[in-house]
Amino acid sequence: MENTINFETCDRCSLCIAVCPYEIFEKDESGQIFLNPEKIEFCVKCGHCMAICKSKSITIEGLSYDNNFYDLLETNIDSDSFINFLANRRSIRNFKDKEIPKEILNKIIDATSFAPYGVSPKDPMITVVQNKEIIEKALLLMSNFYEDLVKWIKNPISRYMIKRGINQETFNTITHHIVPAAKTGHYNTKSGNDNISRSAPVIMIFHANKGAEEHTNNAIICVTYAMLATHSFGLGTTIIGLIPPAINKVKELKELFQIPEENEAVMSLILGYPKYKYKRTIKREKREINWI
Ligand SMILES: Cc1cc2nc3c(=O)[nH]c(=O)nc-3n(C[C@H](O)[C@H](O)[C@H](O)COP(=O)(O)O)c2cc1C
Repeated sequence: MENTINFETCDRCSLCIAVCPYEIFEKDESGQIFLNPEKIEFCVKCGHCMAICKSKSITIEGLSYDNNFYDLLETNIDSDSFINFLANRRSIRNFKDKEIPKEILNKIIDATSFAPYGVSPKDPMITVVQNKEIIEKALLLMSNFYEDLVKWIKNPISRYMIKRGINQETFNTITHHIVPAAKTGHYNTKSGNDNISRSAPVIMIFHANKGAEEHTNNAIICVTYAMLATHSFGLGTTIIGLIPPAINKVKELKELFQIPEENEAVMSLILGYPKYKYKRTIKREKREINWI
């Protein structure tokens, strides 16, 4: 299939021209809308043209009105309810020993498809881990990785190599936050404590091809959508930044989670039914704002 406009049904309203972010649609002298062949390669398949077209006259390769679109509800959530919904979300680190039905997990993953994305709508891929044996094996590997990290940071040569191989932000997180906690045995799961995945019944790993454009930003937004969608089902989550670096550095772990070799893990999310109910939320200090 290719990108087409059905000239018989197109009413030349020009809304596709107005909404296309890459000016792929143009009008000829007779008023007929056409796709500029030189610009069509810039199409990121955002679907705005198909979503706005009253007569469903546009077809973008890979998208179909039947499979990829549905009519929007007239009513939207009011802002008070939405802000209340955000305020009620807490990071949940204590879970009931209860499985999440696959139907709900699928709905959560489907909700991530509404997320904005830079360049490729297919990034990132999501791996859903529910197998307890695999999680147990993975925790041991992660625990060892964080123990090793403490040793590597202590040694001036390996510390220097680590610093050279990663950005300042990650190095600071490691040295200011992760290593001090790891030194106390916080991430040591051998004693039965799980301060990494918090005994959650489900771990989602968001990963993408290492070279894929904007994949890091896409994954962070995607995990945020998954977190909020999960919250809407009365379930709890925590974004876990500790899991991806271990996956990317420990080959066995990457294989255990069946992450393709060419992919890197960007973010992870633990999910489950919350064991406790919070009585209040927190109102943090106002952010610094610069009104210009
Ligand atoms: C990028 C990122 C990484 C995080 N990594 C972890 C983590 O590895 N372990 C953890 O327990 N919480 C992690 N969190 C959760 C935060 O610690 C949590 O959001 C914070 O404690 C505030 O609590 P709240 O989410 O309930 O407001 C992470 C959050 C973000 C945004």
